Amino acid sequence: MSEQPRLLPVLGQNHTGRSAMTCMYRCGNACDHPVPNESDNPYFGDVVQAEVSRRGVVRAGAVGALVLGLGGAAAVQAAPALAAPGGDAAGAAPDLAALRHTRPSGELTFKPIPPNLIDTVIVPNGYDHSVVIHWGDPVVPGAPAFNLDRQTAAAQSKQFGYNNDFVAVLPLDKHGDRALLVVNHEYTNENLMFPGFTTLDALSVEQVKVAIAAHGMSVVELERVGDTGEWVPVRSGHRRYNRRITALATKFGFTGPAAGSALLKTAADPRGTTAIGTLNNCSGGVTPWGTILSGEENFNQYFVGGDGAPEALKPKLARYGISATARYPSDSRKWDRADERFDLTKHPNEAHRFGWIVEVDPFDPDSTPRKHTALGRFKHEGANVIVAKSGHVVAYMGDDERFDYLYKFVSDKKFLPGNSSAARKHNMSLLESGTLYVAKFEYTSADEIDGSGRLPSDGAFNGAGRWIKLVRGNKSYVDGMTATDVLVFTRFAGDAVGATKMDRPEDVEPNLLTGKIYAALTNNTNRGTGTNPKADEVNPRNGNKFGHILEITEDGNDNTAETFTWSLPIVCGDPADPSTYFMGFDKSKVSPIACPDNIAFDGAGNLWIATDQLYALPNQNDGLFAVPLEGPEKGYLRQFLSVPYGAETCGPFITTDDKSVFIAVQHPGEITGASVEKPASTWPDGDYGKPGVVVTWRLDGKPVGS
Ligand code: FEO
Ligand code: CA
Ligand code: CA
Repeated sequence: MSEQPRLLPVLGQNHTGRSAMTCMYRCGNACDHPVPNESDNPYFGDVVQAEVSRRGVVRAGAVGALVLGLGGAAAVQAAPALAAPGGDAAGAAPDLAALRHTRPSGELTFKPIPPNLIDTVIVPNGYDHSVVIHWGDPVVPGAPAFNLDRQTAAAQSKQFGYNNDFVAVLPLDKHGDRALLVVNHEYTNENLMFPGFTTLDALSVEQVKVAIAAHGMSVVELERVGDTGEWVPVRSGHRRYNRRITALATKFGFTGPAAGSALLKTAADPRGTTAIGTLNNCSGGVTPWGTILSGEENFNQYFVGGDGAPEALKPKLARYGISATARYPSDSRKWDRADERFDLTKHPNEAHRFGWIVEVDPFDPDSTPRKHTALGRFKHEGANVIVAKSGHVVAYMGDDERFDYLYKFVSDKKFLPGNSSAARKHNMSLLESGTLYVAKFEYTSADEIDGSGRLPSDGAFNGAGRWIKLVRGNKSYVDGMTATDVLVFTRFAGDAVGATKMDRPEDVEPNLLTGKIYAALTNNTNRGTGTNPKADEVNPRNGNKFGHILEITEDGNDNTAETFTWSLPIVCGDPADPSTYFMGFDKSKVSPIACPDNIAFDGAGNLWIATDQLYALPNQNDGLFAVPLEGPEKGYLRQFLSVPYGAETCGPFITTDDKSVFIAVQHPGEITGASVEKPASTWPDGDYGKPGVVVTWRLDGKPVGS
């Protein structure tokens, strides 16, 4: 805390608070474009108000009973404990027991850091942090040293990619001294990557390919420093697991009912079964069988030529945010210069091959990653899996767009305990067949929602809800749509069944201790404006600038249930703002927080929230916050760390031994007008901003947060 705050650079602020530069590169200026969901499916206030008000009261009573009945950590089945298999050989099965937290309980005791605008990572007293790896560092053995002025696609394909988002750390040995770091590289910012940048048009084709190669994922073997919570990359030896997955070259296989369908076929892949690359990988999750799920989010921005696509396809493109009227939408990346498959005039089905949940087995570096069509196609933030009491696995997912939907998938087959090769093979197939649902919310206080965020007289934003079945295998439950239609054009299926339009669902994640589901609804400043839907009880603020957290309790605490109850434990913002809510906790003690994005849980079940809020609260950098969900301090939300200027906090990941918190520092210095020569952040090396992964640990070795 000895550093002086940097002066704010010239700011290009617009676009609901983010830097215009972030809007362009990350989501293709989504906020400049019309809301893609033009469906007239109703929000609850207009429809079933009376019926659900009555039903909601009953449900609210049931919630209380359920909370009392849960009584602790044993309520939900997770992966069973197993003998550690060792696992130094590539292709080894992971130690499933080591994938679960070991700490049974723990209060949060760290002293919160103050909101700040300092251009570095700030952690609480008693903690330290270090940069594990950043953009350009070697990943694959033999990777050349990073050369800022002479970047090549071949080099980038072996080096750590740009704009790290999702982070997972999977134990690799039974001693807990080796681990695999798995990271998403969501998007690139060419202004901040290439010295002398002028315009995207002026980039060489090789530079375009560098950007394409800087998308994707990385797998990096780590080793623990002593017995601390610090981790560093293994820098010598085979590093057999180390891998770059890129948008440029990595081959993926399609699974599930839409694999091989006409909608997925292209000239390069006439069978519609394989795709090259993965795009805009945002968040993700670790499965109970030790693989990684990664969400393909704003894939729309990489495609051009929608104006020349077949007429029948144009409404479909528009619903997914792809311009059907302009060859080059505003600030197009023009990747067609490097690869014509991004030109929808020539290859109209190529866009259908993105927008999926992908599964990667980091323990088998030779494996072909898969795109699971059974989980639907939309702007997937990520997916997180829990094993239901029945043994079926349930994946929860958000479609990160203003007024889009919340989904879940229930597998046909059941999880097989154990890490035998037979069990592992079986579990790797669980996401290939099952039922896809979309959420529709019902309310207890619909009459009282005025868009101000004022808490209803029953003391809660809450109600019941239903998971509406969309498709199972080859059977569609949506009138007028085939099963393939539902899976490839899932947003239309949600429209057709009247799903609830949400305020940008980001991470959706089960708390494995309680089975309850938590979703970050990051913001939606269009809520209640013009003809857009107005506030409802589950999205209770018009012009929602600060976002909120949703809690879902499945009926019977059965994750396969088709009905649930819900509430909003946290409504974000400056706690001085009367529209905020923190589970009723004393707001004078709570840290200001805006725009929740990625979430995680520690071993005690505390919720950790990373933010993506630049300018929503203008006097603070993004950060990581922690809040108990149970006990006397429930709702006592505290800021744990802050990231450098212009950066977003991604990840986060708390290791299963609770000794380390990993975060991804995404887009440091991403401020309109900034460049390599004129950086708005010089983190981490003092020259120009580089996205990187940071680990934080407690100096006394005790569990983080406690
Ligand atoms: Fe890539 Fe929804 O954030
Ligand atoms: Ca209520
Ligand atoms: Ca995100």
